[in-house]
Amino acid sequence: MPQTASAHLEIDGQSVDLPIITGSEDEVGLDISSLRSQTRAITFDPGFGNSGSCRSSITYIDGEKGILRYRGYPIEQLADHSNYLESAMLLLNGELPSPAELTAFTDNITTHTMLHENFRGFFGSFPRDAHPMPITAATVGSMSAFYESSESTPILQQSVIRLIAKYPTIAAWAYKQSIGQPFIYPRNDLDYASNFLHMMFATPCEEYVVNPVVSKALDLLLILHADHEQNCSTSTVRMVGSSQANIFAAISAGISALWGPLHGGANQKVIEMLDAIANQGQTAEQFVAAAKDKNSGVRLMGFGHRVYKSFDPRAKVLKQACDRVIRALGISSRQLEIAMELEEIAMRDEYFISRNLYPNVDFYSGVIYKAIGIPVNMFTVMFAMGRMAGWIAQYIEMRDDPDGRIGRPRQIYTGATERAYVALDQRSA
Ligand code: CMC
Repeated sequence: MPQTASAHLEIDGQSVDLPIITGSEDEVGLDISSLRSQTRAITFDPGFGNSGSCRSSITYIDGEKGILRYRGYPIEQLADHSNYLESAMLLLNGELPSPAELTAFTDNITTHTMLHENFRGFFGSFPRDAHPMPITAATVGSMSAFYESSESTPILQQSVIRLIAKYPTIAAWAYKQSIGQPFIYPRNDLDYASNFLHMMFATPCEEYVVNPVVSKALDLLLILHADHEQNCSTSTVRMVGSSQANIFAAISAGISALWGPLHGGANQKVIEMLDAIANQGQTAEQFVAAAKDKNSGVRLMGFGHRVYKSFDPRAKVLKQACDRVIRALGISSRQLEIAMELEEIAMRDEYFISRNLYPNVDFYSGVIYKAIGIPVNMFTVMFAMGRMAGWIAQYIEMRDDPDGRIGRPRQIYTGATERAYVALDQRSA
Protein backbone atom coordinates (compact mmCIF):
# COMPACT_ATOMS: atom_id res chain seq x y z
CA MET A 1 0.00 0.00 0.00
CA PRO A 2 1.32 3.50 -0.77
CA GLN A 3 2.36 5.66 2.16
CA THR A 4 1.55 9.14 0.95
CA ALA A 5 2.10 11.39 3.96
CA SER A 6 2.54 11.47 7.67
CA ALA A 7 0.55 12.90 10.57
CA HIS A 8 2.24 15.06 13.14
CA LEU A 9 1.55 14.40 16.82
CA GLU A 10 2.79 16.43 19.80
CA ILE A 11 2.83 14.69 23.14
CA ASP A 12 4.42 16.23 26.26
CA GLY A 13 6.41 18.60 24.08
CA GLN A 14 7.80 15.74 21.99
CA SER A 15 6.83 15.61 18.33
CA VAL A 16 6.31 12.39 16.43
CA ASP A 17 5.61 11.73 12.76
CA LEU A 18 3.15 8.92 12.17
CA PRO A 19 3.03 7.43 8.66
CA ILE A 20 -0.38 7.60 6.97
CA ILE A 21 -1.53 4.42 5.26
CA THR A 22 -4.26 4.62 2.61
CA GLY A 23 -6.38 1.76 1.34
CA SER A 24 -7.65 1.13 -2.18
CA GLU A 25 -10.92 2.95 -1.35
CA ASP A 26 -8.97 5.92 0.12
CA GLU A 27 -9.53 4.94 3.74
CA VAL A 28 -6.92 6.56 5.92
CA GLY A 29 -5.06 4.95 8.81
CA LEU A 30 -2.36 6.33 11.09
CA ASP A 31 0.42 3.81 11.59
CA ILE A 32 1.01 4.07 15.34
CA SER A 33 3.13 0.92 15.61
CA SER A 34 6.23 2.95 16.63
CA LEU A 35 4.33 5.35 18.92
CA ARG A 36 5.12 3.57 22.16
CA SER A 37 8.80 3.07 21.42
CA GLN A 38 9.08 6.78 20.58
CA THR A 39 6.89 8.27 23.33
CA ARG A 40 5.85 5.54 25.85
CA ALA A 41 2.22 6.37 24.95
CA ILE A 42 -0.19 3.80 23.60
CA THR A 43 -3.52 4.41 21.88
CA PHE A 44 -6.72 3.70 23.84
CA ASP A 45 -9.73 2.40 21.92
CA PRO A 46 -12.06 0.08 23.89
CA GLY A 47 -13.91 -2.26 21.53
CA PHE A 48 -11.39 -1.35 18.80
CA GLY A 49 -14.04 0.82 17.11
CA ASN A 50 -11.36 3.05 15.64
CA SER A 51 -8.42 0.68 15.28
CA GLY A 52 -7.29 -1.19 12.19
CA SER A 53 -5.72 -4.54 13.08
CA CYS A 54 -4.52 -5.60 9.63
CA ARG A 55 -4.38 -4.84 5.93
CA SER A 56 -6.95 -6.96 4.13
CA SER A 57 -8.01 -7.36 0.50
CA ILE A 58 -11.02 -9.60 1.17
CA THR A 59 -14.08 -7.52 2.09
CA TYR A 60 -14.83 -3.82 1.81
CA ILE A 61 -17.52 -2.09 3.88
CA ASP A 62 -18.53 1.56 3.74
CA GLY A 63 -20.80 1.82 6.76
CA GLU A 64 -21.93 5.36 5.97
CA LYS A 65 -23.03 4.50 2.43
CA GLY A 66 -24.29 0.98 3.21
CA ILE A 67 -21.78 -0.74 0.87
CA LEU A 68 -20.55 -4.33 1.23
CA ARG A 69 -18.31 -5.96 -1.38
CA TYR A 70 -16.48 -9.29 -1.44
CA ARG A 71 -13.21 -8.89 -3.37
CA GLY A 72 -14.75 -5.84 -5.10
CA TYR A 73 -18.04 -7.47 -6.10
CA PRO A 74 -21.17 -5.82 -4.60
CA ILE A 75 -23.11 -8.10 -2.26
CA GLU A 76 -26.34 -7.36 -4.17
CA GLN A 77 -24.83 -8.79 -7.40
CA LEU A 78 -23.50 -11.87 -5.64
CA ALA A 79 -26.90 -12.36 -3.96
CA ASP A 80 -28.61 -12.20 -7.38
CA HIS A 81 -26.20 -14.28 -9.46
CA SER A 82 -23.77 -16.33 -7.38
CA ASN A 83 -24.11 -19.36 -5.16
CA TYR A 84 -22.45 -20.04 -1.81
CA LEU A 85 -19.63 -22.26 -3.05
CA GLU A 86 -18.74 -19.81 -5.83
CA SER A 87 -18.75 -16.90 -3.34
CA ALA A 88 -16.61 -18.99 -0.99
CA MET A 89 -14.07 -19.54 -3.80
CA LEU A 90 -14.10 -15.81 -4.50
CA LEU A 91 -13.36 -15.03 -0.85
CA LEU A 92 -10.67 -17.70 -0.63
CA ASN A 93 -8.88 -17.08 -3.92
CA GLY A 94 -9.60 -13.42 -4.70
CA GLU A 95 -11.15 -14.07 -8.13
CA LEU A 96 -14.36 -15.56 -9.49
CA PRO A 97 -13.61 -19.15 -10.54
CA SER A 98 -13.72 -20.42 -14.12
CA PRO A 99 -16.51 -22.99 -14.80
CA ALA A 100 -13.96 -25.83 -14.60
CA GLU A 101 -12.52 -24.52 -11.31
CA LEU A 102 -15.98 -24.20 -9.78
CA THR A 103 -16.92 -27.73 -10.86
CA ALA A 104 -13.70 -29.16 -9.41
CA PHE A 105 -14.16 -27.28 -6.11
CA THR A 106 -17.83 -28.28 -5.84
CA ASP A 107 -16.92 -31.96 -6.49
CA ASN A 108 -14.17 -31.77 -3.90
CA ILE A 109 -16.57 -30.34 -1.29
CA THR A 110 -19.32 -32.80 -2.18
CA THR A 111 -17.05 -35.82 -1.71
CA HIS A 112 -15.69 -34.74 1.68
CA THR A 113 -18.97 -34.30 3.53
CA MET A 114 -18.79 -37.47 5.64
CA LEU A 115 -17.41 -37.32 9.16
CA HIS A 116 -14.92 -39.78 10.60
CA GLU A 117 -17.14 -42.55 11.98
CA ASN A 118 -15.70 -42.10 15.50
CA PHE A 119 -17.48 -38.73 15.62
CA ARG A 120 -20.73 -40.60 16.26
CA GLY A 121 -19.48 -41.46 19.75
CA PHE A 122 -18.28 -37.89 20.26
CA PHE A 123 -21.73 -36.47 19.45
CA GLY A 124 -23.40 -39.13 21.57
CA SER A 125 -21.44 -38.02 24.65
CA PHE A 126 -23.28 -34.68 24.86
CA PRO A 127 -26.39 -34.38 27.05
CA ARG A 128 -29.53 -35.24 25.12
CA ASP A 129 -30.91 -31.71 25.06
CA ALA A 130 -27.60 -29.82 24.64
CA HIS A 131 -27.78 -26.62 22.59
CA PRO A 132 -26.35 -27.27 19.08
CA MET A 133 -23.95 -24.28 19.30
CA PRO A 134 -21.53 -25.70 21.91
CA ILE A 135 -21.70 -29.11 20.17
CA THR A 136 -20.75 -27.43 16.90
CA ALA A 137 -17.90 -25.37 18.40
CA ALA A 138 -16.51 -28.39 20.25
CA THR A 139 -16.76 -30.65 17.19
CA VAL A 140 -14.96 -28.21 14.90
CA GLY A 141 -12.23 -27.76 17.54
CA SER A 142 -11.88 -31.53 17.84
CA MET A 143 -11.36 -31.94 14.09
CA SER A 144 -7.64 -31.45 14.73
CA ALA A 145 -7.76 -34.64 16.79
CA PHE A 146 -9.45 -36.59 13.98
CA TYR A 147 -7.71 -35.10 10.94
CA GLU A 148 -4.16 -34.05 10.21
CA SER A 149 -3.62 -30.35 10.83
CA SER A 150 -0.48 -28.42 10.08
CA GLU A 151 0.63 -25.16 8.58
CA SER A 152 2.09 -26.83 5.47
CA THR A 153 0.18 -25.57 2.44
CA PRO A 154 -1.18 -28.90 1.05
CA ILE A 155 -2.43 -29.97 4.47
CA LEU A 156 -3.93 -26.56 5.12
CA GLN A 157 -5.74 -26.75 1.76
CA GLN A 158 -7.10 -30.13 2.74
CA SER A 159 -8.28 -28.69 6.09
CA VAL A 160 -10.07 -25.86 4.23
CA ILE A 161 -12.00 -28.39 2.11
CA ARG A 162 -12.79 -30.46 5.19
CA LEU A 163 -14.11 -27.46 7.13
CA ILE A 164 -16.42 -26.24 4.36
CA ALA A 165 -17.52 -29.76 3.37
CA LYS A 166 -18.06 -31.22 6.83
CA TYR A 167 -19.51 -28.22 8.65
CA PRO A 168 -23.10 -28.84 7.37
CA THR A 169 -22.84 -32.46 8.53
CA ILE A 170 -21.59 -31.29 11.94
CA ALA A 171 -24.39 -28.72 12.15
CA ALA A 172 -27.11 -31.20 11.18
CA TRP A 173 -25.76 -33.88 13.56
CA ALA A 174 -25.56 -31.36 16.40
CA TYR A 175 -29.25 -30.73 15.80
CA LYS A 176 -30.12 -34.42 15.54
CA GLN A 177 -28.26 -35.02 18.83
CA SER A 178 -30.20 -32.19 20.48
CA ILE A 179 -33.54 -33.79 19.55
CA GLY A 180 -32.48 -37.40 20.06
CA GLN A 181 -32.92 -38.52 16.43
CA PRO A 182 -30.54 -40.79 14.47
CA PHE A 183 -27.83 -39.06 12.44
CA ILE A 184 -28.52 -38.85 8.71
CA TYR A 185 -25.59 -39.31 6.32
CA PRO A 186 -24.82 -36.82 3.53
CA ARG A 187 -25.90 -37.40 -0.07
CA ASN A 188 -23.50 -36.63 -2.90
CA ASP A 189 -26.27 -36.06 -5.45
CA LEU A 190 -27.52 -32.94 -3.65
CA ASP A 191 -26.15 -29.41 -3.77
CA TYR A 192 -24.57 -27.84 -0.68
CA ALA A 193 -27.73 -26.28 0.82
CA SER A 194 -30.04 -29.16 -0.16
CA ASN A 195 -27.67 -31.73 1.34
CA PHE A 196 -27.73 -29.87 4.65
CA LEU A 197 -31.55 -29.72 4.61
CA HIS A 198 -31.67 -33.47 3.90
CA MET A 199 -29.38 -34.21 6.88
CA MET A 200 -31.45 -31.91 9.11
CA PHE A 201 -34.91 -33.09 8.23
CA ALA A 202 -34.81 -36.62 6.78
CA THR A 203 -35.23 -39.54 9.18
CA PRO A 204 -34.57 -43.26 8.64
CA CYS A 205 -38.37 -43.57 8.35
CA GLU A 206 -39.01 -40.72 5.94
CA GLU A 207 -37.27 -39.05 2.99
CA TYR A 208 -37.11 -35.26 3.02
CA VAL A 209 -37.95 -33.81 -0.38
CA VAL A 210 -36.05 -30.54 -0.73
CA ASN A 211 -38.16 -27.61 -1.89
CA PRO A 212 -36.00 -25.53 -4.30
CA VAL A 213 -37.47 -22.30 -2.81
CA VAL A 214 -36.12 -23.37 0.58
CA SER A 215 -32.66 -24.44 -0.61
CA LYS A 216 -32.28 -21.25 -2.66
CA ALA A 217 -33.24 -19.11 0.35
CA LEU A 218 -30.71 -20.97 2.49
CA ASP A 219 -27.99 -20.54 -0.13
CA LEU A 220 -28.73 -16.79 -0.24
CA LEU A 221 -28.39 -16.55 3.55
CA LEU A 222 -25.03 -18.34 3.37
CA ILE A 223 -23.76 -15.85 0.75
CA LEU A 224 -24.91 -12.84 2.79
CA HIS A 225 -23.20 -14.14 5.93
CA ALA A 226 -20.00 -15.29 4.22
CA ASP A 227 -17.73 -12.47 5.35
CA HIS A 228 -17.88 -9.13 7.11
CA GLU A 229 -14.28 -8.01 7.57
CA GLN A 230 -12.85 -7.57 11.08
CA ASN A 231 -15.93 -8.27 13.25
CA CYS A 232 -15.76 -9.92 16.68
CA SER A 233 -15.63 -13.56 15.52
CA THR A 234 -13.30 -12.91 12.58
CA SER A 235 -10.94 -10.93 14.79
CA THR A 236 -11.08 -13.88 17.20
CA VAL A 237 -10.12 -16.29 14.41
CA ARG A 238 -7.20 -14.03 13.45
CA MET A 239 -6.15 -13.53 17.08
CA VAL A 240 -6.14 -17.26 17.87
CA GLY A 241 -4.48 -18.04 14.53
CA SER A 242 -1.80 -15.40 15.17
CA SER A 243 -0.35 -17.68 17.86
CA GLN A 244 0.01 -20.30 15.07
CA ALA A 245 -2.75 -22.41 16.60
CA ASN A 246 -4.16 -24.76 13.95
CA ILE A 247 -7.04 -23.69 11.72
CA PHE A 248 -9.59 -25.95 13.45
CA ALA A 249 -8.79 -24.37 16.84
CA ALA A 250 -9.01 -20.86 15.39
CA ILE A 251 -12.35 -21.50 13.63
CA SER A 252 -13.78 -23.15 16.73
CA ALA A 253 -12.91 -20.02 18.71
CA GLY A 254 -14.64 -17.93 16.02
CA ILE A 255 -17.81 -20.05 16.37
CA SER A 256 -17.80 -19.43 20.14
CA ALA A 257 -17.33 -15.68 19.63
CA LEU A 258 -20.23 -15.65 17.17
CA TRP A 259 -22.58 -17.15 19.75
CA GLY A 260 -23.06 -13.97 21.79
CA PRO A 261 -26.37 -12.07 21.43
CA LEU A 262 -24.55 -8.89 20.39
CA HIS A 263 -23.04 -10.74 17.41
CA GLY A 264 -24.36 -13.86 15.62
CA GLY A 265 -26.66 -14.78 18.48
CA ALA A 266 -28.80 -11.75 17.66
CA ASN A 267 -30.87 -13.61 15.04
CA GLN A 268 -32.13 -16.00 17.74
CA LYS A 269 -32.83 -13.04 20.03
CA VAL A 270 -34.78 -11.30 17.24
CA ILE A 271 -37.21 -14.20 16.91
CA GLU A 272 -37.52 -14.49 20.70
CA MET A 273 -38.30 -10.76 20.78
CA LEU A 274 -40.91 -11.04 18.00
CA ASP A 275 -42.50 -14.07 19.70
CA ALA A 276 -42.56 -12.29 23.07
CA ILE A 277 -44.27 -9.26 21.51
CA ALA A 278 -46.86 -11.52 19.83
CA ASN A 279 -47.46 -13.71 22.88
CA GLN A 280 -47.64 -10.96 25.49
CA GLY A 281 -50.04 -8.89 23.42
CA GLN A 282 -47.57 -5.99 23.51
CA THR A 283 -47.78 -3.48 20.68
CA ALA A 284 -44.77 -2.63 18.50
CA GLU A 285 -44.99 0.96 19.87
CA GLN A 286 -44.73 -0.30 23.45
CA PHE A 287 -41.71 -2.42 22.64
CA VAL A 288 -39.91 0.40 20.82
CA ALA A 289 -40.59 2.67 23.82
CA ALA A 290 -39.00 0.07 26.14
CA ALA A 291 -35.98 -0.26 23.82
CA LYS A 292 -35.41 3.50 24.11
CA ASP A 293 -35.51 3.39 27.89
CA LYS A 294 -31.96 2.74 29.17
CA ASN A 295 -33.32 1.43 32.49
CA SER A 296 -35.48 -1.24 30.86
CA GLY A 297 -32.51 -3.43 29.86
CA VAL A 298 -34.31 -3.97 26.53
CA ARG A 299 -32.72 -3.45 23.12
CA LEU A 300 -34.39 -3.62 19.76
CA MET A 301 -32.58 -6.77 18.66
CA GLY A 302 -31.51 -6.78 15.01
CA PHE A 303 -31.09 -3.01 15.06
CA GLY A 304 -27.84 -1.07 15.11
CA HIS A 305 -24.40 -1.99 13.96
CA ARG A 306 -20.87 -1.01 14.92
CA VAL A 307 -19.98 -0.27 11.29
CA TYR A 308 -23.20 0.47 9.39
CA LYS A 309 -24.49 3.93 10.09
CA SER A 310 -27.12 3.56 7.37
CA PHE A 311 -29.10 0.54 6.15
CA ASP A 312 -27.15 -2.74 6.30
CA PRO A 313 -27.16 -3.79 2.59
CA ARG A 314 -27.65 -7.43 3.65
CA ALA A 315 -30.84 -6.47 5.50
CA LYS A 316 -32.17 -4.82 2.31
CA VAL A 317 -31.61 -8.00 0.29
CA LEU A 318 -33.10 -10.16 3.05
CA LYS A 319 -36.21 -8.04 3.53
CA GLN A 320 -37.14 -8.63 -0.12
CA ALA A 321 -36.16 -12.30 0.07
CA CYS A 322 -38.29 -12.73 3.19
CA ASP A 323 -41.35 -11.47 1.41
CA ARG A 324 -40.60 -13.67 -1.65
CA VAL A 325 -40.03 -16.86 0.37
CA ILE A 326 -43.10 -16.41 2.54
CA ARG A 327 -45.28 -15.82 -0.52
CA ALA A 328 -43.74 -18.75 -2.44
CA LEU A 329 -44.28 -21.09 0.51
CA GLY A 330 -47.84 -19.84 0.90
CA ILE A 331 -47.48 -19.25 4.64
CA SER A 332 -48.28 -16.25 6.76
CA SER A 333 -45.77 -14.94 9.26
CA ARG A 334 -46.90 -12.95 12.28
CA GLN A 335 -43.20 -12.43 13.03
CA LEU A 336 -42.62 -10.77 9.66
CA GLU A 337 -45.62 -8.48 10.23
CA ILE A 338 -44.33 -7.44 13.66
CA ALA A 339 -40.78 -6.99 12.31
CA MET A 340 -42.07 -4.64 9.60
CA GLU A 341 -44.12 -2.68 12.16
CA LEU A 342 -41.09 -2.33 14.45
CA GLU A 343 -38.93 -1.17 11.56
CA GLU A 344 -41.50 1.38 10.44
CA ILE A 345 -41.88 2.83 13.94
CA ALA A 346 -38.15 2.90 14.69
CA MET A 347 -37.32 4.49 11.35
CA ARG A 348 -39.56 7.47 12.23
CA ASP A 349 -38.28 7.77 15.79
CA GLU A 350 -35.76 10.46 16.74
CA TYR A 351 -33.93 8.06 19.12
CA PHE A 352 -33.07 5.63 16.31
CA ILE A 353 -32.55 8.32 13.66
CA SER A 354 -30.10 10.35 15.77
CA ARG A 355 -28.07 7.25 16.68
CA ASN A 356 -28.05 5.89 13.12
CA LEU A 357 -29.69 2.66 14.22
CA TYR A 358 -31.02 0.72 11.21
CA PRO A 359 -32.06 -2.93 10.77
CA ASN A 360 -29.04 -5.23 10.46
CA VAL A 361 -28.70 -8.61 8.74
CA ASP A 362 -30.16 -10.40 11.75
CA PHE A 363 -33.41 -8.48 11.75
CA TYR A 364 -34.79 -10.46 8.81
CA SER A 365 -32.57 -13.57 8.72
CA GLY A 366 -34.39 -15.15 11.68
CA VAL A 367 -37.75 -14.64 9.99
CA ILE A 368 -36.54 -16.48 6.85
CA TYR A 369 -34.91 -19.26 8.87
CA LYS A 370 -38.17 -19.73 10.75
CA ALA A 371 -40.17 -19.73 7.50
CA ILE A 372 -37.98 -22.44 5.95
CA GLY A 373 -38.28 -24.61 9.05
CA ILE A 374 -34.92 -24.03 10.78
CA PRO A 375 -35.41 -24.22 14.56
CA VAL A 376 -34.49 -21.10 16.54
CA ASN A 377 -31.62 -22.74 18.44
CA MET A 378 -29.95 -23.51 15.08
CA PHE A 379 -29.91 -19.89 13.83
CA THR A 380 -26.39 -19.07 15.00
CA VAL A 381 -25.15 -22.47 13.82
CA MET A 382 -26.46 -21.45 10.37
CA PHE A 383 -24.74 -18.07 10.55
CA ALA A 384 -21.47 -19.89 11.23
CA MET A 385 -22.05 -22.11 8.18
CA GLY A 386 -22.01 -19.05 5.94
CA ARG A 387 -19.24 -17.26 7.83
CA MET A 388 -16.97 -20.33 7.50
CA ALA A 389 -15.68 -19.17 4.09
CA GLY A 390 -14.82 -15.70 5.42
CA TRP A 391 -13.14 -16.98 8.58
CA ILE A 392 -10.96 -19.31 6.51
CA ALA A 393 -10.06 -16.60 3.97
CA GLN A 394 -9.14 -14.24 6.83
CA TYR A 395 -7.12 -16.95 8.63
CA ILE A 396 -5.11 -17.65 5.47
CA GLU A 397 -4.56 -13.94 4.78
CA MET A 398 -3.36 -13.49 8.38
CA ARG A 399 -1.02 -16.49 8.07
CA ASP A 400 0.48 -15.20 4.80
CA ASP A 401 0.80 -11.57 5.96
CA PRO A 402 4.50 -10.60 5.91
CA ASP A 403 3.76 -8.00 8.65
CA GLY A 404 1.86 -10.57 10.74
CA ARG A 405 2.70 -10.81 14.44
CA ILE A 406 1.04 -12.52 17.37
CA GLY A 407 -1.96 -10.44 18.46
CA ARG A 408 -1.18 -8.80 21.77
CA PRO A 409 -2.99 -5.56 22.71
CA ARG A 410 -1.75 -3.32 25.51
CA GLN A 411 -3.79 -1.87 28.39
CA ILE A 412 -3.97 1.15 30.65
CA TYR A 413 -3.54 -0.33 34.11
CA THR A 414 -5.95 1.15 36.69
CA GLY A 415 -5.33 -1.19 39.65
CA ALA A 416 -3.44 -0.67 42.91
CA THR A 417 0.13 0.58 42.82
CA GLU A 418 2.81 -1.54 44.52
CA ARG A 419 2.00 -2.60 48.11
CA ALA A 420 3.45 -5.12 50.53
CA TYR A 421 1.90 -8.55 51.11
CA VAL A 422 -0.07 -8.78 54.39
CA ALA A 423 0.09 -12.08 56.28
CA LEU A 424 -3.28 -13.88 56.62
CA ASP A 425 -3.43 -13.55 60.44
CA GLN A 426 -2.82 -9.80 60.24
CA ARG A 427 -5.74 -9.00 57.91
CA SER A 428 -8.96 -7.56 59.28
CA ALA A 429 -11.96 -9.90 59.27
N1 CMC B 1 -31.75 -0.81 20.65
C1 CMC B 1 -31.76 0.32 21.39
N2 CMC B 1 -30.71 1.15 21.53
C2 CMC B 1 -29.58 0.82 20.89
C3 CMC B 1 -29.49 -0.34 20.10
C4 CMC B 1 -30.62 -1.17 19.98
N3 CMC B 1 -30.59 -2.28 19.24
N4 CMC B 1 -28.23 -0.43 19.58
C5 CMC B 1 -27.56 0.63 20.04
N5 CMC B 1 -28.37 1.40 20.83
C6 CMC B 1 -28.03 2.68 21.46
C7 CMC B 1 -27.13 2.49 22.66
O1 CMC B 1 -27.87 2.35 23.85
C8 CMC B 1 -26.30 3.75 22.60
O2 CMC B 1 -27.10 4.82 23.08
P1 CMC B 1 -26.40 6.07 23.87
O3 CMC B 1 -25.47 6.70 22.88
O4 CMC B 1 -27.54 6.93 24.27
O5 CMC B 1 -25.68 5.45 25.04
C9 CMC B 1 -26.11 4.00 21.12
O6 CMC B 1 -27.25 3.40 20.48
C10 CMC B 1 -24.82 3.37 20.55
O7 CMC B 1 -24.81 2.00 20.90
P2 CMC B 1 -23.51 1.15 21.22
O8 CMC B 1 -23.89 -0.05 22.04
O9 CMC B 1 -22.45 2.04 21.76
O10 CMC B 1 -23.08 0.70 19.77
P3 CMC B 1 -22.02 -0.40 19.45
O11 CMC B 1 -21.43 -0.05 18.12
O12 CMC B 1 -21.09 -0.63 20.58
O13 CMC B 1 -22.92 -1.74 19.33
C11 CMC B 1 -24.41 -3.34 18.50
C12 CMC B 1 -23.40 -2.24 18.14
C13 CMC B 1 -24.73 -4.17 17.22
C14 CMC B 1 -23.76 -4.32 19.51
C15 CMC B 1 -25.69 -2.71 19.11
O14 CMC B 1 -26.27 -1.83 18.16
C16 CMC B 1 -26.70 -3.75 19.57
O15 CMC B 1 -26.60 -4.20 20.73
N6 CMC B 1 -27.68 -4.13 18.69
C17 CMC B 1 -28.61 -5.17 19.04
C18 CMC B 1 -27.95 -6.53 18.87
C19 CMC B 1 -27.80 -6.89 17.40
O16 CMC B 1 -28.71 -6.75 16.60
N7 CMC B 1 -26.61 -7.45 17.06
C20 CMC B 1 -26.33 -7.94 15.70
C21 CMC B 1 -25.27 -7.16 15.01
S1 CMC B 1 -25.26 -7.52 13.25
C22 CMC B 1 -24.64 -9.09 13.16
C23 CMC B 1 -23.17 -9.06 13.18
O17 CMC B 1 -22.56 -8.59 12.17
O18 CMC B 1 -22.62 -9.50 14.20
